[in-house]
Amino acid sequence: MKVLKASDIREYAQSGTEKGPWIRVGMDTGGIAAGAKAVYEALVEAREEAGASIRIEKVGSLGLAYADPVVVFQCESGPPVVFGSMNPDSARELIANHCRKGVLLEDRVMASRDRGESLEGGEQLAILVKDTSAGKHGDRTEFFQQMIQDELDFYGLKSTIRVYRALDMGLYNKGVCLQLLPSRVTYGGVSGPDIRHIIKESLRGGTILEDLLVRGSDPQERIVLRNCGQIDPDSIESYLRADGYSGLVRSLTEMTPEEVIEELKVSGLRGRGGAGFPTWIKWSKTREPQADRKFVICNADEGDPGAFMDRSVLEGDPHAVLEGLMLSAYAIGADKGFFYIRAEYPLAVERVQRAIDQAREAGLLGENILGTDFSFDAEVRLGAGAFVCGEETALIASIEGRRGSPEPRPPYPSVKGLWGKPTSINNVETLAAASAILEKGGAWYSGFGTEKSRGTKVFAVTGKVRNSQLVEVPMGIPIRTIIEDICGGAGTESPIKAVQTGGPSGGVIPLQHMDTAVSYESLQSLGSIMGSGGMLVMDEKDCMVDVAKFYLNFCVDESCGKCAPCRVGGFQMLQLLEKIHSGEGSMDDIEAIRQICRCMQTASLCGLGQTAPNPVLSTLKYFNNEYIALIEKDKPLAKAGLDLSEEGASW
Ligand SMILES: Cc1cc2nc3c(=O)[nH]c(=O)nc-3n(C[C@H](O)[C@H](O)[C@H](O)COP(=O)(O)O)c2cc1C
Repeated sequence: MKVLKASDIREYAQSGTEKGPWIRVGMDTGGIAAGAKAVYEALVEAREEAGASIRIEKVGSLGLAYADPVVVFQCESGPPVVFGSMNPDSARELIANHCRKGVLLEDRVMASRDRGESLEGGEQLAILVKDTSAGKHGDRTEFFQQMIQDELDFYGLKSTIRVYRALDMGLYNKGVCLQLLPSRVTYGGVSGPDIRHIIKESLRGGTILEDLLVRGSDPQERIVLRNCGQIDPDSIESYLRADGYSGLVRSLTEMTPEEVIEELKVSGLRGRGGAGFPTWIKWSKTREPQADRKFVICNADEGDPGAFMDRSVLEGDPHAVLEGLMLSAYAIGADKGFFYIRAEYPLAVERVQRAIDQAREAGLLGENILGTDFSFDAEVRLGAGAFVCGEETALIASIEGRRGSPEPRPPYPSVKGLWGKPTSINNVETLAAASAILEKGGAWYSGFGTEKSRGTKVFAVTGKVRNSQLVEVPMGIPIRTIIEDICGGAGTESPIKAVQTGGPSGGVIPLQHMDTAVSYESLQSLGSIMGSGGMLVMDEKDCMVDVAKFYLNFCVDESCGKCAPCRVGGFQMLQLLEKIHSGEGSMDDIEAIRQICRCMQTASLCGLGQTAPNPVLSTLKYFNNEYIALIEKDKPLAKAGLDLSEEGASW
C-alpha cells in the first residue's frame, strides 16, 4: 500500500463497501475452533466449481458464539441473511442453492435481529418460523410451518414463498414468531388464526399488523464491536472503507491534543478494564508531566475466567484498537506504544501484528504521520499468561523484562511508568471506543448509557445460559434483558439462580436483583462490579460455596506472592472454605473468613488481593443459607431451601 494522505483516507470512507454478492465467515478463535476454516474452504471451492462471482471474506466474531461457525450472505439488494452452525456440506449447499437459486438453507438460517418494519422494497421471498417458547408446550414450530404452508397453498403462493424453520430468532418467550424475508417484518405471539391474517393482509396486502409486530428485537448497540464480523481484520483497506482512521485524520489535522482530551471528557468514557477510571482524566494526567519520552500501552492481558471480549475485538477489528492507541499517544504526547497481549491469544497477536505492519506501510505509523508533527510507532509484547500481569504496574515490570509483580502506587504510571516515563495504559475496549468517539464525537457517544456510566459495554455471557455469546449494550439496560431477551435465558432445565459479574474481582448477583440497570455504580451497590465484562450465569443446581471456592482458588493460584495479605490470606481463606465445603466447618470459620476478607481488602498491594474476597463476601451476603446448611448438618434442610439428596447435590 502507498503512503496515505488525509484525503486518501477520506476517499476510502466515502467509497463504502465493495458492491456485489458477498459472503462473510466468522473466523475468530471461537469460529475456527467450531470449524470455520473448513467452511471457508468449502465455500471457496464451491464458488470456483460453480464459476460464481461471489466475494468470500473472513471476518471476526459476529458475537453469536453459540451458533458458530456463522456465515452471512449479502446479495446485491436486500438485507444480509445469517446462517449458523454451518459445516462444509451446508457451505456447498449455500453456494448451490441459496446464492444461485435463492433457496435458503433449511435449519441453518437465523432470523434477523434488527427491526424491519417495512414491507416495501419488493416481493417477500420466504417466511421463517420458530416457536421461541419451545419447552413449555413442546416445540410447535413444525406444526405452524405446516399451517403456513397450507395457507400459502390456499392463495397459490406455495411455489413462490418458502417456509423455513429458523435456527434462532433472537427472540425468546414470545411464543411462535414469524419473520418475513427480505422485509424482516417480525410477528410474535402468533396463534393459528393469526396465520391467515398475516398471509392475507401482510404478505399479500402489504400492510403491517401492528398488534402482532415485534419491535426492536435486539436492544444491542454496536460501537466497540462496530466492525467485528463486518470487515476483514487482515485488511487495512477494509477498515478504511468502514470509516477507519477518520478519527485519527480529524484529530491530527483539526484538533489539538487538549481538544482530543476534551472530546473524551464530553463522551464520558470510563476505562473498560475494570476500575472505570475516566479516560480523559488518565490522558490529561499523563499529558501534564514534562518528560523527554512518554509511552502508551494497550492492556490486552484479558485473563478473567469466562471473558473473551478483548480477544474478540482484537481478532475482529485490530485497526480500531491501534487507532485508539495512536489517539491516546497524540493526546498525551507519546512517541511509542505497546500492545501487551497474552501469548495464549495467538490469533489476536497475529492480527494485531499485521495491522501494525500495514499501518506502518501506509505511513500511519512512523515519522510525521499524515504530514503532521506527530511521530509514533507501536509494537507487540507477549505476556506469558499470568493474571497479575494485567495489573498496570506488574504489566510495566513485565514489558521491562522484570518479574511481573505489582508495585505500590503512587507514583502512578501517568507520572512514573514504563522505564520511569509517564505512561498511559488503557484496555482494548476503551481504545476501540476512543477511536469511535474521535470519529463521531463525544456528544454522540454520551447519548448512550446513564448519567454516570456513559456509552456501551461489551459482555461475554457464558455458563448456564441458552446462548453463550458476546453482547454490546447501552449502559443502563437491565441485567434481565441481557440474560433473557438477548441470550435466551436459562440454558438448562433448572431455573437461573444468579449471575456472576466482574470475574474473580466481582461477585454474584442473585435472581431478585436481575432487574438492576447495568452500570458501574449499580453493580457495586450490589456487592459486585462490572469488571471487564464477564457474565457467568448459574442455575439452581450450582452451589454458591463451590462458586466462591472456584474464584478464590483462581486468585490463590494467580497471586504473585509479593504481599502477605494476598499470599497468606487467600490461602488461609481457601482452607476454611474447603473445610466448610467438606462439612467440617463451624460458624467461627465464617467469622474468620470475614476477618481475612477485611485484611486482604485493606492491606493487599494490588487489586488482585484487594478484590479476591468479593466472590466470597457476595455469596455470604446472598446465599448465607448454603454455608449454614453445610455447617449445621442437623438443621432441617428444607428451611435452608436446599436439596441435599444425592441427585440434588452437584454442590
Ligand atoms: C490483577 C489485575 C488484573 C488486571 N487485568 C487486566 C486486564 O487483563 N486487562 C485490562 O485492561 N485491565 C486489567 N486490569 C486493570 C488494569 O490494571 C488497568 O486498570 C486497566 O488496564 C486500565 O485501563 P482502562 O482505564 O482503559 O480500564 C487488571 C487489574 C488487576 C488488579
